Amino acid sequence: MSEAKHLVAVIGAGPAGLYAARLLASSGAHVVLFNRDIKPGGLAEYGIFFDKYKMKSGLRKQFKKILDDDHIAYFGNVTIGRNADFTLDQIRAMGFDAILVTVGAQGTKWLGLPGEELTGVYHAKDLVYHYNKLPPFSEEQYAIGRRVAIIGAGNVMLDIASWCIRYLKVDEVVSVVRRDPAAVKFTKKEMSIVFENLDIAALDAEIERTRPIMEAVGNDPEAARDFILSAEARAYPKLSDTRFRFEFLSQPQRIIGDGNGRVSGLEVEDTTLVLRSGGRTSAVGTGHTRVIDVDTVVFAIGDKVDNDFGLPVEWNEYVKSKAPQFPIDDMSYEAFDPVTGQTIDGVFVAGWARSASDGLVGAARKDGENGAKALLAYLETKEAGGVSAESIGETIRANVASVVDKVALDRLEAVEEAHALADGLEEFKYSTNEDMLAVIAG
Ligand SMILES: Cc1cc2nc3c(=O)[nH]c(=O)nc-3n(C[C@H](O)[C@H](O)[C@H](O)COP(=O)(O)OP(=O)(O)OC[C@H]3O[C@@H](n4cnc5c(N)ncnc54)[C@H](O)[C@@H]3O)c2cc1C
Ligand SMILES: NC(=O)c1ccc[n+]([C@@H]2O[C@H](COP(=O)([O-])OP(=O)(O)OC[C@H]3O[C@@H](n4cnc5c(N)ncnc54)[C@H](OP(=O)(O)O)[C@@H]3O)[C@@H](O)[C@H]2O)c1
Repeated sequence: MSEAKHLVAVIGAGPAGLYAARLLASSGAHVVLFNRDIKPGGLAEYGIFFDKYKMKSGLRKQFKKILDDDHIAYFGNVTIGRNADFTLDQIRAMGFDAILVTVGAQGTKWLGLPGEELTGVYHAKDLVYHYNKLPPFSEEQYAIGRRVAIIGAGNVMLDIASWCIRYLKVDEVVSVVRRDPAAVKFTKKEMSIVFENLDIAALDAEIERTRPIMEAVGNDPEAARDFILSAEARAYPKLSDTRFRFEFLSQPQRIIGDGNGRVSGLEVEDTTLVLRSGGRTSAVGTGHTRVIDVDTVVFAIGDKVDNDFGLPVEWNEYVKSKAPQFPIDDMSYEAFDPVTGQTIDGVFVAGWARSASDGLVGAARKDGENGAKALLAYLETKEAGGVSAESIGETIRANVASVVDKVALDRLEAVEEAHALADGLEEFKYSTNEDMLAVIAG
């Protein structure tokens, strides 16, 4: 890198963007960090389950330390995208030497089923944002009923199940899984949170029902059962009488309404398993359908990137160059335009923006850092353009009302901490942008 400092934009202050910013700054670049939310942290702040106070406060401390770096300027409450505060093209025209996109996977994946418009059908991400107090989701009403079907068998399914079982105390939660008991993706640790509500007799009945299909593809029903039951050793105390059960080999087909626009059932098709290359299985419908008696359906099937951000999208992710000039660990971080067949010069993607719904905070951190390394390799080929972070700051403030900087963040944090202390709470969070901005304004 030449003597003059390069100026880099990082868009998105979740774990990927924050750890990337730290690496870029410690490598000699000036960083301008844009974030849609007032607060930094992304899903570490607004995804991780709200009662994991210790984990969340540890991460907040790390993020604050990163933002203390004078070479990182923070602009919260600024959204980049079509019909947003700035388009990506406007950011590119500001004169940054390179841009790292770490906006996560903000789009919503639906299955396109009849009945998805009914009251009582939700996407897990919206609910997660709601209970973690992210505006505007924090202000929405979600009509969770008494019998909740959650589609999917990942850790997000268990987060929604925990909320329904331990906080909302609904009557029944059913995890609807398209494959077999061997295909669950949650961890034992997460299962232990709701284990005491698991209907073990119902699990055993499901194991027996799915046994022939599992054995036909070489899956071990006992091993699958043992894995789920191994959560018992560290099971959390039971807080409700909610019945928690699984329906395996079930692919949702249609959400049934009650005539008043509210969910009254979920029609699923029985599936069987076929072996694919590498021993992976996939679910194939048998044609036989049945109805699960629920009044709420939540999709916990992963997320996709935001189509309106301004980068080309393929499947659930932004398109990357298949022949990267600056690969890290054989991975491409270079944004690519399939229409022109060219990389988008100087634009890199990392974290869940590069690989949607992929892994924990640690993985997002590593991916952000790898994206920063790819970007730094690109900067080696480029003289600094000479634009200063200060002049960019002036442009941002001239165009966006209520930009939140690091001083404002510190003020908000201090007031929220004082509030929690005064009320004897583990933590206190304002749940509207208006409230946060009012506190910041003093
Ligand atoms: C429900 C849930 C629970 C989880 N629980 C855990 C857990 O317990 N432990 C764990 O280790 N991991 C957990 N994870 C995974 C972890 O949260 C992710 O791995 C990680 O947060 C992804 O980081 P990221 O920076 O790529 O994206 P994100 O965390 O999504 O951050 C994206 C950032 O970009 C900003 N942004 C978005 N769009 C724009 C835009 N257009 N313009 C400007 N800024 C924008 C957002 O404001 C946000 O700050 C959980 C994930 C989910 C969904
Ligand atoms: N506490 C924690 O540590 C925590 C909490 C939440 C999230 N996370 C992390 O965040 C990431 C995302 O989690 P996630 O639960 O959203 O994703 P995930 O682990 O990939 O699980 C998604 C589930 O949805 C199913 N699914 C996907 N597409 C489907 C479709 N079209 N029809 C029916 N079912 C479908 C999947 O089934 P198939 O297997 O058949 O595809 C899978 O069971 C993971 O890395 C997770 O570990 C961690």
